[in-house]
Amino acid sequence: MQNNKFYIATPIYYPSGNFHVGHCYCTVVADVIARYNRLIGKDVFFLTGTDEHGQKIERKAEELNMEPKEYVDKIVEDSKQLWKTLNISYDKFIRTTDENHIKCVQKIFVKLYNQGDIYKSEYEGKYCTPCESFFTESQLIDGKCPDCGREVEVVKEESYFFKLSKYEDKLKKFFIENPLFLEPETRKNEMFASFIDKGLEDLCVSRTTFKWGIQVPFDTKHVIYVWIDALSNYISALGYLSEDDSLMKKYWPADLHLVGKEITRFHSIIWPALLMALDLPLPKKIFGHGWLIVDGKKISKSFGNYKDPREYIKYSSVDALRYFLLKEIKLGTDGNFDEEIYIQKINSDLSNDLGNLVSRVVAMTEKYNNGILSKDSFLNTGNTKSDQLIIDLIKKNINEYKVNMDNLRPDIALDKVMEIVSFSNKYIDLNEPWKLVKNEDSKERLNKVLYILAESTRIIAVILKPFMVTIPDKIIGQIGCGNMENSWQDIQTFGQIPDSTTCRKTENLFPRIDKDLILKEDEIKVEEKKEEVNLDGIITIDELSKVSLKVGQIINAQRIEKSDKLYKITVDLGSEIRTIVSGIVDYYKEEELINKKIIVVANLKPAKLRGIESNGMLLAAGDKDVVRLIIPDGDIANGENIH
Ligand code: ME8
Ligand code: MG
Repeated sequence: MQNNKFYIATPIYYPSGNFHVGHCYCTVVADVIARYNRLIGKDVFFLTGTDEHGQKIERKAEELNMEPKEYVDKIVEDSKQLWKTLNISYDKFIRTTDENHIKCVQKIFVKLYNQGDIYKSEYEGKYCTPCESFFTESQLIDGKCPDCGREVEVVKEESYFFKLSKYEDKLKKFFIENPLFLEPETRKNEMFASFIDKGLEDLCVSRTTFKWGIQVPFDTKHVIYVWIDALSNYISALGYLSEDDSLMKKYWPADLHLVGKEITRFHSIIWPALLMALDLPLPKKIFGHGWLIVDGKKISKSFGNYKDPREYIKYSSVDALRYFLLKEIKLGTDGNFDEEIYIQKINSDLSNDLGNLVSRVVAMTEKYNNGILSKDSFLNTGNTKSDQLIIDLIKKNINEYKVNMDNLRPDIALDKVMEIVSFSNKYIDLNEPWKLVKNEDSKERLNKVLYILAESTRIIAVILKPFMVTIPDKIIGQIGCGNMENSWQDIQTFGQIPDSTTCRKTENLFPRIDKDLILKEDEIKVEEKKEEVNLDGIITIDELSKVSLKVGQIINAQRIEKSDKLYKITVDLGSEIRTIVSGIVDYYKEEELINKKIIVVANLKPAKLRGIESNGMLLAAGDKDVVRLIIPDGDIANGENIH
């Protein structure tokens, strides 16, 4: 039984913004691998979910004036929708805010603390919040985060530490004894050069400066480091340390963690060390895939260089997007996502090659033999050279397809499928059914050719099933084989379609995409967007109306201690009294300011300056030498709007 299970667990996503096609990449590839393993008869458990704690999420929610939970709930819903659109066949969706997960992580922490693998000390070092990562001085590049290049923050706090250093030798040994544990090879070299060979330091695993996380149960001012929390999802989802750990018994260790290259470090160093500490077997494989690139940059929330994946699907199809992501990118390397190439590729591979094959086979069978496939004709006559060629090619390619799927080279596996597609098209041209139909004597030959083509097309559809979710069944439907199982077993011997099966052409499976039209529409959208964000610095009247300007009167002004520029100014805004911090010490004496009528930006987001919350801004003008307040001409009541 053990050999027949396949547990694939992919990264759980930060719900910190909209998902882009780069995110989809990881999960789509994982879905293809999961579906493939189901196809070959394995008992698959496919896990994904969301990684909802941490400072990054807390800050994001704060910016939006929301509770973190309220904020993540919304995005989690959207991510589930997206996975549904992309037909991601996960068996479980885990949220790190799930009660079971929280309990499990706390138990893990306590267990490690009790056995001495976690201890309390003080952390002083650098932290990159967007990456939720600690770095030592030597790991920084030009003083910045080595992963994303952003500024790091200095962190000094009482913390718990995980004894990562204790596992260094054990890890090295494990890597040597299990050469296929971390792939591709380049990733392994990176891990050794940048981390393992430099020596592993103990890892800070708790934080006290924010709240949004899982509490250390015996020391509740600490929250557990988000990566310990997140990585544990792979076992908490199986019920580890809970009353019901039957899934854990059945599926652990994971057969595959497919993760992006920037988080390979957490999965190939911290995660194995944690598992060693927990005395659990290690995953069979960590595979660090590459990034999707647009215009030379990683597609990323922070660069903003992406579209919602649903936009590509709108004019093509889910299957087309899934096909492209797997065919065009060699798993493990970075891949370029170029929309023009995307459209070209779909038109050439899917509309021309595959779509044409299906429609030719079905149309010819309908036209030449009322849609009826004759297995008898296939069996009654010997194979010609071209028959043998196509039958042999199919057998060989099914085998190579399997080898490549097992070796995580779905791109080559797809090449094998497409080779069958193009040879089938060639087989039509070699046998010229339109000539065979003209001669009564070649009726049986014609039917044999049509049968071989239908069977080839059916096999193509079956091995496309992991990659595409609706097209294979539609192809099978048109060939009239919807009642067959079309399982992996069903394609091992050529010639399984029952006699007298009837083909019926229905819809055109891959309509051509008008590249010029789509890209043109896109250009227009980009132009409109430009207008919206306004690259020329011009704003619309609607945008202007968002700014609330009011007349106010200064009732007090006071120098702020330890600042030689700032006044704390109290302003009467009619219906309320406001505190505004303003840097006009050099230009006005305190008493000059009292009673002055001024203009205030009233709906500016509050900001803390020298510990004082400033609620608004005074309008002033001038250069460095002279700065003067803008004042209303005439006696206007406090709180009056300016329009
Ligand atoms: O890293 N191309 O979450 P995440 C390819 N919560 N893959 C990309 C990509 C791109 N342009 N951008 C992102 C996290 N990804 C953690 C994981 S697991 C215990 C915790 C991939 O939302 C990225 O590499 O930042 C990662 O595998 C996944 O999307 C989630 O990224
Ligand atoms: Mg990331």
